[in-house]
Amino acid sequence: MKTTHRSLFQNAKKMKTLKSGSIDLVVTSPPYPMIEMWDEVFKNWNPKVKTAFKDNDGGAAFELMHQALDDVWKEVARVLRNGGFACINIGDAVRTIHDNFMLYPNHSRILTSLYQKGLSPLPAIIWRKQTNAPNKFMGSGVLPAGAYVTLEHEYVLVFRKGGKREFGTEKYRAGRQNSALFWEERNQWFSDVWMDLKGARQDQVDKNVRKRSGAFPFELPYRLINMYSVKGDTVLDPFLGTGTTMLAAMAACRNSVGVEIDQNFSEIIDAQFGSIVNFSNDHISERLRRHEAFVKERIQTKGPLKHTNCHYGFPVIMNQEKNLMFNPLQSAKKTEAGCFEIEYSEDPEVKNIHPQEFPVESGKKNYQQLELKM
Ligand SMILES: C[S@@+](CC[C@H](N)C(=O)[O-])C[C@H]1O[C@@H](n2cnc3c(N)ncnc32)[C@H](O)[C@@H]1O
Repeated sequence: MKTTHRSLFQNAKKMKTLKSGSIDLVVTSPPYPMIEMWDEVFKNWNPKVKTAFKDNDGGAAFELMHQALDDVWKEVARVLRNGGFACINIGDAVRTIHDNFMLYPNHSRILTSLYQKGLSPLPAIIWRKQTNAPNKFMGSGVLPAGAYVTLEHEYVLVFRKGGKREFGTEKYRAGRQNSALFWEERNQWFSDVWMDLKGARQDQVDKNVRKRSGAFPFELPYRLINMYSVKGDTVLDPFLGTGTTMLAAMAACRNSVGVEIDQNFSEIIDAQFGSIVNFSNDHISERLRRHEAFVKERIQTKGPLKHTNCHYGFPVIMNQEKNLMFNPLQSAKKTEAGCFEIEYSEDPEVKNIHPQEFPVESGKKNYQQLELKM
């Protein structure tokens, strides 16, 4: 099995090379309106934003920035297939303009925009990003009627185009079953608050570069891709940045297209790509290791599980998990500037992991017996 990945360095307001209905899932995080680090981007995109700031008109600046993003959302609605999903990570902003401190509700403006373009909003995820910084509270300290609540969360807005996706043929249904999540992952990933994604590995790009680029942690697009698409699908990120969504698509056996206006990111994307095979296989091993730990605990507390996964031989909770399988990455090559190809193994066993880091025992075992002996 192979997947292909393309990065296009252009403005996402017109994605002419992408055919209507050709994308199964969009996962993205745009520049955030009214967050200072993105002011220049919006001023270049829509020069009227500059005038709004000169006039100290925060409301107008907010609306003009969103009007620029609206063009991209229109494209997102066009390129998505019927039954396809869009997941948009966005945070609100707070800002003082001309002595007026207020909230700029980016998430509700974007939600309305996509709804007006014909997409159906689905229950969203709150990504809780707790900070322990001592200066996190704003305003009048412990004195009432002048302090402000701290923003410690962002959103992942979720939309669907059209009705439910159909899995009409036997082959299609088998592919969906093969792409299943573990029961315990479903319980965590499909809850509406994600407490902390800090645990996700972020060592692919220098921490400062990630901060300056507004990159999200690998785990965020990785989860969304596994939740809302199947292997072999095509994922689009119209604001690709350092390429995190592309990396997650590679790890999850999906094709991808990324659009990014700033050509400077191409070097970072190439650098990330350099270690994709081991990085992804480590991640797969970590999911297997966590499942094994879950099974151990579950059997100890609740007794044997009903079903067995046919690829790994370990117990699973649901019948739907029986055909779940990860495809370890075998090789990765750059085919031309901005284009990559990944080849996957059909053998579920991960072979090129660092054994000291993730000690996954290989071979099928009788897990039920193993645990009962303990
Ligand atoms: C919040 S960052 C995305 C970070 C990305 N999720 C990651 O993990 O690295 C937004 C990105 O959108 C890019 N961008 C801004 N305006 C754009 C436009 N009109 N078209 C395409 N990309 C744009 C910025 O250069 C920036 O890299």
